[in-house]
Amino acid sequence: MSGLFVSFEGIDGAGKSTHIERLAEALRSQGHVVTLTREPGGTPLAEQLRALVLTEKMDALTEALLVFAARRDHLQTVIEPALARGETVLCDRYTDASYAYQGGGRGVDLEVLATLERWVQAIPASARLRQPDLTFWFDLAPEQAAARLAGARAPDKFEAEPVAFFRRVAQGYARRAAQDPQRFARLDAAQTRDAVWAELLGVVRRKGWLA
Ligand code: TYD
Repeated sequence: MSGLFVSFEGIDGAGKSTHIERLAEALRSQGHVVTLTREPGGTPLAEQLRALVLTEKMDALTEALLVFAARRDHLQTVIEPALARGETVLCDRYTDASYAYQGGGRGVDLEVLATLERWVQAIPASARLRQPDLTFWFDLAPEQAAARLAGARAPDKFEAEPVAFFRRVAQGYARRAAQDPQRFARLDAAQTRDAVWAELLGVVRRKGWLA
């Protein structure tokens, strides 16, 4: 028995965080055991790697190696055990973010990312890779996301990037979504928070995961 694995993606400022918590609450109220986690991060080691990735200047490949190292630890110690117990894992970002940020944003070779993905996400004794069952893509124009972020808390290394960077990141997400339309649910993140929530809830209900 394997639990459900749901990831949440989008450029900085697209507004995914409140919805993750709200979905966790809704699922718990209907009996799901929910593990709410994030990438990079989710374990003590991966959180240390996150702190480095979000603050230190480094070359793009180093950045990619660190986010995949964090992912490996997270998968081994949190995600796989939770799924094996039949729990629902909600993850704030996963590998699509590496394709979007390191691939699209920074220009890391997508073949290199695909190789790391195959190493890190291999499921033992299976030909499969660990991928989410569903990925919510909060899609918002980079200009609008930048306007939302302006004046919020102090920006981290990524949030401080110019709009052109986020245009490339957004294209990275669009490419990933086009390659795997079954897994991706695109949400129009320009709507009001309640409208986005209603759309998200509709997707989860159609899957039969919530009444
Ligand atoms: P984010 O998820 O936006 O958290 P917060 O809401 O606390 O800012 O921040 C994580 C950042 O890490 C985000 O800017 C995207 C980046 N990131 C990558 O560059 N590559 C990755 O593989 C992942 C998972 C995240």
